[in-house]
Amino acid sequence: NAELAAAGKKVFKKCKACHQVGEGAKNRTGPILTNIVDGAAGAVDGFKYSKPMKKVAEAGLVWNDAELSAFLAKPKAYMKGTKMSFAGLKKEADQRALIEYLRSFDE
Ligand code: HEM
Repeated sequence: NAELAAAGKKVFKKCKACHQVGEGAKNRTGPILTNIVDGAAGAVDGFKYSKPMKKVAEAGLVWNDAELSAFLAKPKAYMKGTKMSFAGLKKEADQRALIEYLRSFDE
């Protein structure tokens, strides 16, 4: 859904201080987010994840829509000890739009 993705591009401004996505993206404070929708958690090469993120990665967490929404809504509540310092996206519409934007970078 292109319209939703366009709305999500605006929401992604909140993430850009720490994350890059798409062509030429590099790890910064946060890992690159290319292929993150329906991708394995904690799997970006060369990024140093927190212990809890490594733990869910080992347990096989996949970032499907439901898991991503829950994480983005309140990162520190979803994952105690995550080093993602972000208060969260309260609005469900923002979560949905953002996920659609990120999905557009899935290869
Ligand atoms: C991790 C998305 C905002 C820093 C992650 C992950 C996702 C994500 C999906 C898991 C990546 C993986 O499993 O490889 C987002 C989105 C944001 C956002 C969509 C905006 C709505 C931020 C901000 C910061 C940040 C503002 C920095 C202040 C991090 C860090 C991690 C991370 C450090 C690694 C967490 C850990 O190892 O516990 N982010 N993020 N993120 N993000 Fe964000």
